[in-house]
Amino acid sequence: MSLKEIPIFKGTRIQPYFKHIDFMFAGVFSIIFLVYRVYQLIQGYQSKYQTFEVAEVYYYFKPHFLYLVIGCLVIFIVAKLIAQLLFRFKEKDLAEMIETQGFHNRTVTQKRTEFLDIDIKKTEYDYYPTLFYKRGRKKFILHIKKDGSRFQDHYLELESIIEPMFNCELVEKKHIGRYLRYEFMPLKYKKRIVMNGQQKNNIVDYDTKIYITRQIVWDFVKAPHALITGITGGGKTYFLFYIIRELFRRKAEIRLLDPKVSDLSFMKRVIGADKVADTKGQILKQLREANEEMESRFRLMNESEAYKIGNDFRNFDLKPFFIVFDEVTAFTSTLDKKDLQEMNDYLINIIMKGRQAGVFMFLTAQRPDADVIKGNVRDQLGLRVSLGNLSSDGYRMTFGQTDKDFQPIHESDIGRGYITILGQYNDPVLFDAPLMEQYDFVEDVKQILNKKDD
Ligand SMILES: Nc1ncnc2c1ncn2[C@@H]1O[C@H](COP(=O)(O)OP(=O)(O)OP(=O)(O)O)[C@@H](O)[C@H]1O
Ligand SMILES: [Mg+2]
Repeated sequence: MSLKEIPIFKGTRIQPYFKHIDFMFAGVFSIIFLVYRVYQLIQGYQSKYQTFEVAEVYYYFKPHFLYLVIGCLVIFIVAKLIAQLLFRFKEKDLAEMIETQGFHNRTVTQKRTEFLDIDIKKTEYDYYPTLFYKRGRKKFILHIKKDGSRFQDHYLELESIIEPMFNCELVEKKHIGRYLRYEFMPLKYKKRIVMNGQQKNNIVDYDTKIYITRQIVWDFVKAPHALITGITGGGKTYFLFYIIRELFRRKAEIRLLDPKVSDLSFMKRVIGADKVADTKGQILKQLREANEEMESRFRLMNESEAYKIGNDFRNFDLKPFFIVFDEVTAFTSTLDKKDLQEMNDYLINIIMKGRQAGVFMFLTAQRPDADVIKGNVRDQLGLRVSLGNLSSDGYRMTFGQTDKDFQPIHESDIGRGYITILGQYNDPVLFDAPLMEQYDFVEDVKQILNKKDD
């Protein structure tokens, strides 16, 4: 066994009595207060009386007695509240988790005391898991021993219990010797972007990085093309709004395809009717033109004297060209075979070749239909996002085969979902899309477009 396989400092070992840690914490403060007050009283007594007589002591202490009790009680309650609300000892929750999940073997014996008529329970643990907890910066680490007990299978899948319990996400899971090491990150550290009209709306040249959360950055040249899936109301269109805004800031040429004639069609008034398509004819025309644009860009680049291997559209002062296609699958279900074939050819062509020419596809779908987005095409999409709860089939169609245990997403968690970015986050990670409750998309885009014209 190499040295690396020995976990050295694993943190605090969880003990059965940790479930009372709040009481112990509060009790310590109460006792400190009690001892201190009694000490003060004794000093006061000594300065007043030279002798030590039981009656005198009693009369001296009597008026203080009630205050002592109340003081202890108040301190106890306050300390307990602080422990409960502020510190939130994870050690306590882990001990309780072991208890309620039944990951232990114990015998409880009841004994009647000799002098008083009360029962005293005594609990003896024959088996208690070897679980260590360590707090870190913006994370916490658990080590659990693979002890061969009948609970071991659960220990190997501990994230399914811990993730919802602490509202956190598994970052890393590693077998180290006989231990399994889990690293979790509380979701509160995954800060979402909040759009409130105060965002920078300046124009940025040749910036291909878009912040999706404050930590997650999508570089649309490194991981070109995108697919957003999610149930109706999951937030796909809102996510598009955010991306569209960021693209306009980057001087991108954008074509909006909205077969549902709903959320993007109104943009005709903002960016011009020729850039927004909502009928079958217009949509196919836009796709055809995007293909022609891509081919002509390739010609331009290849014929240029200045062309070098590895060059892309940025070296030729070309703008990124985005086809934003909301609800692709809603569209394809209305097409006959010939049109479907035509559309598929355009899509696949752009997805396979578009990056270098700077022509990108940005698709959304309630359910990625395998007829439209085949596995091998999907694997070419650099950014993949699911919003809201998907069926396991939906997750598979979005992300391909993965071992990820997808957590259920609560309805109130607007814009929450999973994301992968090729080469960066290859396994889906939980994320929150930019929040746009206090945000006027149209006004903001108008301002950005005005700046662009300057
Ligand atoms: N990021 C967000 N910030 C604020 N509100 C949001 C966000 N995402 C979604 N919503 C809320 O949820 C509603 C539905 O979102 P959206 O229209 O984007 O869903 P969708 O996935 O496009 O649904 P459909 O498939 O029906 O088109 C919005 O009207 C909005 O109120
Ligand atoms: Mg929508």
